[in-house]
Amino acid sequence: MGSHGATGTGRRSLGIDLHLDVGAGAGGVGRSIESALREAVISGRLPAGTRLPGTRSLADDLGLARGTVVEAYAQLTAEGWLVTATGAGTWVAETQRPPARSAPGATATTGAVRRIIDLRPGRPDLSLFPGAAWAAGVKRSLAAATHSTLDYGDPAGLPVLREAVATYVSRTRGLQAEPGAVVITSGFSHGLAMVSRALHRMGVRTIATEDPGLIHHRRLIHGAGLETLPLTVGPQGADPAGLTPAVGAVLLTPAHQHPRGVVLGPALRTAFLDWVTDRDGFVIEDDYDGEFRYDKQPVGALQASAPDRVVFAGSTSKALAPGLRVGWLVLPEPLRIPVLDAITDAGATVGAPDQLALADLLDRGDYDRQVRRARQSYQKRRAELAARLATLTDIPLDGVPAGLHALLPLASQQEEKRIVDAGLSAGLRLMGLYGAGYWHSPARGGAGLVIGYASPPSHSWRTALDALSGVLDGAEFSRW
Ligand SMILES: Cc1ncc(COP(=O)(O)O)c(C=O)c1O
Repeated sequence: MGSHGATGTGRRSLGIDLHLDVGAGAGGVGRSIESALREAVISGRLPAGTRLPGTRSLADDLGLARGTVVEAYAQLTAEGWLVTATGAGTWVAETQRPPARSAPGATATTGAVRRIIDLRPGRPDLSLFPGAAWAAGVKRSLAAATHSTLDYGDPAGLPVLREAVATYVSRTRGLQAEPGAVVITSGFSHGLAMVSRALHRMGVRTIATEDPGLIHHRRLIHGAGLETLPLTVGPQGADPAGLTPAVGAVLLTPAHQHPRGVVLGPALRTAFLDWVTDRDGFVIEDDYDGEFRYDKQPVGALQASAPDRVVFAGSTSKALAPGLRVGWLVLPEPLRIPVLDAITDAGATVGAPDQLALADLLDRGDYDRQVRRARQSYQKRRAELAARLATLTDIPLDGVPAGLHALLPLASQQEEKRIVDAGLSAGLRLMGLYGAGYWHSPARGGAGLVIGYASPPSHSWRTALDALSGVLDGAEFSRW
């Protein structure tokens, strides 16, 4: 039976024209509409991003009970063919046609087409985002806010959020923070760019960064007119022995180095703290996933030991979602005015409704609850990943059980590339340590896979693990 979303009474506001060959086959009409839709997606007739008609609209057009269409949508959403967002509708999910030939060891193939599974680092499980709590927070806080809250605001952010952040980081990360030291940013990247500009104005010309580290962060520093100097990261973290007299600040990920996953050891912490004091320098402490430690209490922030020399930077990108673009800085006194000037000059601050909602979540404990929930999920995944890898190789994951990613060290960039390519052929996006995204000094050998085990939504975690096993099982590799 052919059917179109437009009816004799005109097109519905949310409807699209959709032809489906639906007939009562084995399994009944429900199975038939489900199969017809699946076929339309697999064949590419409904490309990724196509918005589907509402269930009521499609049921009317096909002369079916609405429940039948609801069930078909739910089944296809569970299989990953469709994506549904409450109140926003249903779309065809991103899928990939299979390559002409499968790579050796690839196991992610199911039928004619594969879903792309993303195991790149840097993303949380976005399906865990507490959408209802966030929406309630926006509603509640906007209803209580005065009109002036929506005026051009202080570049440091709304006082209510600065207070909530100061309380949160003091409680959870052991900081010495008062609300006056807090500046709300559009995520860590924005914060780093603004601190770099401020340091440049104060005469700093070189910032030392971790090697390996994120290329993106080096670019932000260069964009502010500064140079970078690499500090080799070993099993105890970045080595301060590489600091030169030209360096005015150091960017570190002390709680969980990205990408190696190591914790800055006590001796090196002390060395950096001595350096900032002796040199009147600064440390920028990137605490991007400091809430996510699985084997023990996270180490406290470096900032607590030198609040007048350490910039503490946090972000909601791991605990909530990177798309929110909200983070914070806790600034030493000498940097406060220069950073606010840099923010004013750059002309962008975080919108008031988002700031209000985050303050609401922090104050009500919803943020803590979300972190706990996500932590449990990622802890389990990290353990499952380590256990699965142990069946395939005796190379242990680098670093401590923490965060949202883990590094599997490999002997060469050729091995790394072969595995990343085999992953792609198997519908698995992997990130190589020395592929795009990370910076390293050319003299440094070694390579690796940076596995972002938090990225897949819960329903596809098992498939992701199986696909990764398949790729590694078919590959030859060794550690650096
Ligand atoms: C090392 C590191 N720092 C910070 C961040 C967070 O950046 P942003 O807050 O700009 O999303 C990430 C995200 O992947 C990261 O890997």
